[in-house]
Amino acid sequence: MENGHRKFPSTPGDIFIMVKSERKDLNFQVAKHAAKALSSIAELIEDIQGYKYLDNRDMIDFVDGTENPIDDERIESVLIGEDDEFKGGSYLIVQRYTDKQGAWDSLSTEHQEKVVGRTKMDDIELDDDTKPAWAHNAKSKVEVDGEEVKMFRQNRPYGNAMEHGTMFVGFSNTPSIIETSLTQMITADENGDYDKLLDFVEAKTGNSYFVPSQSFIEERFDD
Ligand code: HEM
Repeated sequence: MENGHRKFPSTPGDIFIMVKSERKDLNFQVAKHAAKALSSIAELIEDIQGYKYLDNRDMIDFVDGTENPIDDERIESVLIGEDDEFKGGSYLIVQRYTDKQGAWDSLSTEHQEKVVGRTKMDDIELDDDTKPAWAHNAKSKVEVDGEEVKMFRQNRPYGNAMEHGTMFVGFSNTPSIIETSLTQMITADENGDYDKLLDFVEAKTGNSYFVPSQSFIEERFDD
């Protein structure tokens, strides 16, 4: 997707494996063995080691994931429904972003809060009078027939003092939810408003995947 100076590139990638635990050393071992096991059919092109940063903040220092659905609402938003041949699976969109740290740091905290749509220290949503139309949480929110439809984000900060950013990792029960969110974020509306977070982060990669359920895999690959 492209609009104005903003770009969401589509980059190569057929298989995505997310390895999660508190142990970076064990994560590395799993990744190494997975890459070896798949080496006859796939070439490893990116290995990003994310981590939990402060109290679940992303690299722009705001708490990330607060409005994620929980419990039954999470299951419903993530899993493909029973009537579908891919039931129990999910659709995943992954983008690797880098931060424009200097530009972000030059904003006042008050302005940063407007860009995100939440307060920085205590992670409270701005009220409608204070939240601009171009706030990230206004532009990324998806509604269908006036009802909010949620995705489930498992974003991870990554990187070091030279280059860092956020892996956007979003699951939904249909790819259209995240695609709609991306379209709303990148497109300038009739007032010229797009998601202002995109002035401070840059998408370097972009892929979408189907995530099979365990039973889907078992039914097709019995060894
Ligand atoms: C560098 C990339 C990104 C960063 C740093 C970021 C950060 C944040 C933060 C701090 C929040 C507020 C807290 C929360 O509710 O989680 C948020 C909310 C949200 N973000 Fe992002 N985000 C990024 C990319 C994206 C992308 C690419 C999408 C969609 C495709 C997205 C969708 C959402 C949604 C749906 C919400 C919740 C809106 C609401 O209901 O309040 N974000 N994000």
